[in-house]
Amino acid sequence: MTISRRAFVGTLAWGSAAVLSGTAVSGRGREAMASTWWAEEAAGQLTPVDGIRLDSNENPNGPAPAALDAIRAAFGEASRYPRNPASQLTAALARLHGVKEENIVVGAGSGEILRMSVYGFTSPTRPLVQGLPTFEDPGKYAELIGTPVRAIPVDAQLRLDLKGMASQVEGAGLVFLCNPNNPTATVHPASAVADFIARVNTVSPTTVVLVDEAYHHFVADPGYQSAIPLAMDNPRVIVCRTFSKIYGMAGLRIGYAIGQAEPMKALRRHRLGNSVNVLGAAAALASLPLTAHVEREKQRNHDTREFTRKAFASWGYQVGPSEANFVMVNVRRDAAEFQKACRASGILVGRVFPPLTTHARISIGTDAEMQQAVGVFRKVLGVSTA
Ligand SMILES: Cc1ncc(COP(=O)(O)O)c(C=O)c1O
Repeated sequence: MTISRRAFVGTLAWGSAAVLSGTAVSGRGREAMASTWWAEEAAGQLTPVDGIRLDSNENPNGPAPAALDAIRAAFGEASRYPRNPASQLTAALARLHGVKEENIVVGAGSGEILRMSVYGFTSPTRPLVQGLPTFEDPGKYAELIGTPVRAIPVDAQLRLDLKGMASQVEGAGLVFLCNPNNPTATVHPASAVADFIARVNTVSPTTVVLVDEAYHHFVADPGYQSAIPLAMDNPRVIVCRTFSKIYGMAGLRIGYAIGQAEPMKALRRHRLGNSVNVLGAAAALASLPLTAHVEREKQRNHDTREFTRKAFASWGYQVGPSEANFVMVNVRRDAAEFQKACRASGILVGRVFPPLTTHARISIGTDAEMQQAVGVFRKVLGVSTA
């Protein structure tokens, strides 16, 4: 990182933070638009997707066949409000995790959970603490309601600086802990997460820690464990999950939160009624038992990610360890220019994540897509084929 880490610590007024100015967006997946979609939508500037989409950390294979069957079977319910499917999904998730239904809140993607969390636990006097870079939506929601954001830069290995974050939590309403972190793909072991939460509880007993496990299913690190047991044990911890990643359902908009009844109640106050759609709920229900499918998708992602990593490594570009369905590559040039050049050759890569302005986030597509993409990356980086 060429940027002074200390420069980014402290309370940032998110909208005016210099670190975010100039953020580029090339793809039009929902995730790809996270940093700008509010403004673009208002300006009527949403443009169609064109090219191989490696910009939103989606599953290129889409939903499992059983989920697609469930969607077709649910067409007849499309005229009905989704009360039944949503409550069936809540019940199924409660059974899966061995908790009560009061411990689950289902939303329109985990994005809605993030919004509920920021609205429920932060305010102009109760800041949000997060890493930098991390998934931007919590910071954007904070901006909308005047919540200050304390953004702590990742360390030299691109890992969230848990010590630095813990030092900034006093008086905060919410800590956003993205594990694995989007966009850096790094993960913290269960022991580090538990220590961090204990530290937060000591320094700032009313602060809630939101552990975002959107990429949970991709993690292979043996030290990693879900924070769900911590959330069930501690009213100051909540976890969110999504069906948008390994389950391939980003367009169907289903995510959920899990935690003790008290914080779940606080989230529900900010929930949009009927936000869970009938087809998404049916697909999610059908996906939950598919453990073999999830394992296959994890392995496929791993193998194709490895192919991608090796290609960059063979050209002298190191790719940091990834525990997710994307990699963060230091392309050693302006990431916005890299993104633009890739796009001109039909490959959409992730937006720029300041302060990592020479890093490109590349989602893992299918084998065929990555073979094509690697050819484009090589050309854009000017690597000779000899
Ligand atoms: C870390 C993280 N959390 C939450 C989301 C939102 O996902 P969704 O609203 O599709 O569940 C994303 C999207 O990419 C993400 O990367």
